[in-house]
Amino acid sequence: MAPPKITVIGTGYLGATHAAAMAELGFDVLGLDVDPQKIALLERGEPPMFEPGLGDLLRAHALGVEGSTGRLRFTTSWEEVGEFGDVHFVCVNTPQKQGEYACDMSYVDRAFESLAPWLRRPALVVGKSTVPVGSAERLAERLVELAPAGAEVELAWNPEFLREGFAVRDTLHPDRIVVGVRGERAERRLREVYATPCAEGSPFVVTDFPTAELVKTAANSFLATKISFINAMAEVCEAAGGDVVKLAEAIGYDDRIGRKFLRAGIGFGGGCLPKDIRAFMARAGELGASEALTFLREVDSINMRRRAQMVELTRDAVGGTLLGKRVAVLGATFKPDSDDVRDSPALNVAGQLHLQGAQVTVYDPKGMENARALFPTLGYAASVQDAARGADVLLHLTEWPEFGELDPAAIGGTVARRHLLDGRNTLDPVPWRKEGWTFRALGRPTA
Ligand code: UDX
Repeated sequence: MAPPKITVIGTGYLGATHAAAMAELGFDVLGLDVDPQKIALLERGEPPMFEPGLGDLLRAHALGVEGSTGRLRFTTSWEEVGEFGDVHFVCVNTPQKQGEYACDMSYVDRAFESLAPWLRRPALVVGKSTVPVGSAERLAERLVELAPAGAEVELAWNPEFLREGFAVRDTLHPDRIVVGVRGERAERRLREVYATPCAEGSPFVVTDFPTAELVKTAANSFLATKISFINAMAEVCEAAGGDVVKLAEAIGYDDRIGRKFLRAGIGFGGGCLPKDIRAFMARAGELGASEALTFLREVDSINMRRRAQMVELTRDAVGGTLLGKRVAVLGATFKPDSDDVRDSPALNVAGQLHLQGAQVTVYDPKGMENARALFPTLGYAASVQDAARGADVLLHLTEWPEFGELDPAAIGGTVARRHLLDGRNTLDPVPWRKEGWTFRALGRPTA
């Protein structure tokens, strides 16, 4: 049998990476987006966002790039997608609803409504977006209703676990593949699509629709809980004079606990964890199971408190009032190796400081453009040195590797005062203190 032809609907972080990875695995791929500008970039092999390795993959396969395999094409036409594909991956985003905890399903719903009328022959539609449990069942019915091929169009749910910054690696070498299916035909198709990673040893977990949907939200809730747990310990350390970095190291040696995701600091952000735990709470409420997830409310509020604590630590460092104080902020993205500033703790802290009267100057290696668009009133500098010039305090808020390599003596020559606050607990206090810096961090003793 000929290998399935693949389409990818929605070419954001998830879709652009998935489309390029499918081409890398040898499939013919057609990506669709409603944004013609994004499509124009992708056709030239240019990623619409910063993601390590994605540009190389796009250039290797995009039809518009000379010398490429030509296996990867893009379009804005639903008709073309319907005609081309045997397997259609839906990768559109599911943001938080305005003014509510619940998930905004309008992009997913629109994608299904737009695609289905063009499905004239047997096809498998695969949802990858993070959705409230129960969505797949509803969408499967809608597909059969709307598609000319009727029951010959099947649905599967195949959540994605990629991390920004590692999206290409996570997609080509996933640590597990989870598929929610209703029949063997859909399972066989997906085994074909994922034959390469499965042969490399990625576990292939077959389950029903609701479980597949829940795996994703459960995984993200667990990760968020782990981060908020260590941040709660940071609060206790602050009260008791303990060191949360040592504490995390020590409990992490227990392999039932593990070292990962135990880095205390200004907490989690980004386009996934915050909105996913909120949507999960909202959905549990609708299902009459809200009590099961009340702890996630606490996870969320611990997380938000750490941002406020960073602001307080800054106020303290500059003598009790932020008015007119110069604050240099290193980092704007929600994590390193990404240009994503969605719900970024770093930018949130920078914004709060600015609103309380500080003169804030931000530097980030990749996130400047997105940060400026979201927070145009902050100051922006082209380098660490420019941001630090004349600063009363230096804040380390996103752990980009280049910040770990800063020379405390050289930076010390540009600032007005040698105050450093580490909001990510990744800098070594020793060399900074040796150069006469006051070094403080969340959940750690002052000296
Ligand atoms: C997350 C999930 O990890 C991924 O599996 C899912 O598919 C999408 O959501 P991502 O949003 O890319 O991925 O970021 P992640 O690496 O999980 O980090 C989330 C946030 O937690 C970042 O702001 C990061 O700085 C913070 N974090 C992470 C901590 O504060 N401490 C830690 O120990 C780890």
